[in-house]
Amino acid sequence: MGLKLVVIGGGSSYTPEIIEGLIDRYHRFPVTSVVLVDVAEGEEKMQTVASLSRRMIAEAGLPVEIHAGKDRKKALHHADFVMVQVRVGGLQARYYDEQIPLKHRLIGQETNGAGGIFNALRTIPVLLDIAQDMHNICPEAWLINFSNPAGIVTEAVLKHSPHPKVVGVCNIPYNMRTGIASLFDVGVERISVEFLGLNHFSFGKRVFIDGKDRTSETMEKLMNQDVDYAPANIVSLPWNKTFLRMLGMIPNPYHQYYFQQETMLEKDFEQWKEQGTRAEMVMQVEKNLFRQYADESVKAKPKELEERGGAYYSDAACNLMESIYNHSLDVQTVNTRNNGCLPELADDTVIEVNSLITANGPRPIAVGSIPRQTSGLLIQMKKMEELVIEAAVTGNYYSAYAAFVMNPLVRSDEKAQIVLDELLEAHKDFLPQFTKGVVRS
Ligand code: G6P
Repeated sequence: MGLKLVVIGGGSSYTPEIIEGLIDRYHRFPVTSVVLVDVAEGEEKMQTVASLSRRMIAEAGLPVEIHAGKDRKKALHHADFVMVQVRVGGLQARYYDEQIPLKHRLIGQETNGAGGIFNALRTIPVLLDIAQDMHNICPEAWLINFSNPAGIVTEAVLKHSPHPKVVGVCNIPYNMRTGIASLFDVGVERISVEFLGLNHFSFGKRVFIDGKDRTSETMEKLMNQDVDYAPANIVSLPWNKTFLRMLGMIPNPYHQYYFQQETMLEKDFEQWKEQGTRAEMVMQVEKNLFRQYADESVKAKPKELEERGGAYYSDAACNLMESIYNHSLDVQTVNTRNNGCLPELADDTVIEVNSLITANGPRPIAVGSIPRQTSGLLIQMKKMEELVIEAAVTGNYYSAYAAFVMNPLVRSDEKAQIVLDELLEAHKDFLPQFTKGVVRS
């Protein structure tokens, strides 16, 4: 019998990528029913995406039904996999996440710093509701989470919902492997990287090509060649040689925000003044994309989707679902419970790590201790994430404030309070846990 996939946030402009991924894998991963679900504000976009998806399926000549609706509970019946890619508050909320910190000369980013914290505060309660529904309606189904910030959100669900079958996915590990492949001029399938850390904060500890350790050559090449493995949504700066030599690992493109903070802030500030926030740019890209999606003659994923920072994410999601379904025992990079993998972090915390993919979910592969030059910062980031989760679940103002102060992209006590209060006001419609009466003790 065919499988059923539910996509929550189905009206996203990224959805055609998932459909393409399902078409490519149909014979190994036979999904015959896809149900897109979205909120009322996303309904029109969802219907457009559903029609394009039907045309893509017809073109491929496969027996896959595409449904679309707003009733999440109804959609979840008999689901095998549930992909969750929600953006709570839409792009307008992302605009505030980016614009309010920038206005106060802080990094304004949807998954890092003040903006990332607020994205998590809005998203965690929604994900907890979804996971609760899954527990009641389809307890055997896997929740594949893409909703940002993916690592924090995944940890919140694993810690605070009764549904244990949850895995978080991101496209950055794939982007990093592609970047390394281009340095060596080989296919990405020959590259494997040992990842260590947290989502949007993981390092490539060792690099292998066809199983041979090529880490030091990779570092040399990174020091001497231009390679841009940053996704489309972030400005890419060259890495400093001294920094790379000290680090001895491949940095994540998002590490630029932490280790080149002043330059990144200047660049982001300039970009904001000249072109607007990334949210505003994405609104424009989306307009063009949806114009194409609505065109009846379009029967494939348009090329422009690659202008989005999350391009190729569906490969990560589809590969994961396919391997869980087939109990493939291959290695993929996912966000899952630490379970002793990084001894410096608690077992129940979520890390981004290479894992063996089994029918029972990911089994993380240990990579040893966190190198000393990054362990302090990594532990601080994890503690900051824990505070964010606590704030999202309880609505405690001081947990949110502590997360702000502990976040290396905020730090200043005064700015933390100003920006936190402005963001709380801007997002109040999506933060019921805070607006019910802010817990300030
Ligand atoms: C990156 C990140 C994703 C993020 C995306 C944003 O790829 O890994 O987590 O959602 O970029 O891209 P966008 O085109 O929306 O700015």
